[in-house]
Amino acid sequence: MKLLFIGDIVGQPGRNAVKTLLPKLREQHALDFVIANGENSAGGSGITPKTAGEIFDAGVDVITSGDHLWDQKEVMELLASEKRFLRPLNYPAGTPGQGSGIFEIKNSKFKIQNSVAVLNAQGRTFIQPPLENPFLLAAEEVKRLRERTKIIFVDFHAEATSEKIAFGRFLDGQVSAVVGTHTHVQTADEQILPHGTAYLTDAGFTGPHDGCLGREIEPVIKKFLTGMPQRFEVARNRVQLHGAVIEIDDASGMAVKIQRVSENLT
Ligand SMILES: [Fe+2]
Ligand SMILES: [Fe+2]
Repeated sequence: MKLLFIGDIVGQPGRNAVKTLLPKLREQHALDFVIANGENSAGGSGITPKTAGEIFDAGVDVITSGDHLWDQKEVMELLASEKRFLRPLNYPAGTPGQGSGIFEIKNSKFKIQNSVAVLNAQGRTFIQPPLENPFLLAAEEVKRLRERTKIIFVDFHAEATSEKIAFGRFLDGQVSAVVGTHTHVQTADEQILPHGTAYLTDAGFTGPHDGCLGREIEPVIKKFLTGMPQRFEVARNRVQLHGAVIEIDDASGMAVKIQRVSENLT
C-alpha cells in the first residue's frame, strides 16, 4: 500500500494547498491512505472542528497534532468525539483524546483489506510541555497495535534531530514509518532503516514558504531584535505542500520506498 504524509498544515493557505493538490497527488501516486499534521491549521495556531473538517473533506483520512494542540479551545470537541484526530500519545493518563488509532484503508480499488495504525508522539527535548517518555510509551503502544496490523505510521512531533533519529532507530523493524514534524523545515535524510522502517527527520510544512516557518517575516525578526512579544500573522506567498510518500509491503508492514514531496501551489 502507499500512503502520503503531509507536514504541518499552516493556516488557510495550507488548507487551500491540501484542497487543490491532494486530488492530483492521490491520482499520481495511487495513494491508499493520507495522513496530515493539522496542529497549525487554524490561523497558524491550533486546530478547530472547522479546519479539521476542511482537511478531512480535502481527502485526508487521519489528522495528527503536536505542541500547538491546545491553542484553540474548540479542539476539546475534536478530542472528545473525532476518532480520526490524534494528539500526542505521551500526555498523562486521563487526557482527552487518543494518541493512536487503527483505520480501514478506504481505497479498495486493489482489494486491499489491510488496516493502518497511526501513532502520534511528542519529543521532550527543546519542546513544551514536558510529557511522559515517548520511547517507553510508543514501544508499549506499538506492541499493542501490532496485534491488529503490521502497517503502522508514526508522526514524531519533536524539535531535536538527535531525539528524532534515535526514536526512528528505536522503532526500526517495529513500524512501517517514522516521520518527524514540528520544525517546519523538510530534511533530506529520507531512508529505509536497516530493519525496514522508512524514516525522515522532518516532513516540512504545508503553507506559505515566503516567510518564517509559515509566518510573516517582519514580526519574527522584531521579536528576535527586541525580545518583545509580537503578533505572528500567517504569511501569504510561495505556498507549498510538503510531505512524503511511503510505499509499504502489505504482508510484512515494512517500507519498500520513501520519497519526499514538495509541490507548489500555482
Ligand atoms: Fe507546526
Ligand atoms: Fe509543533
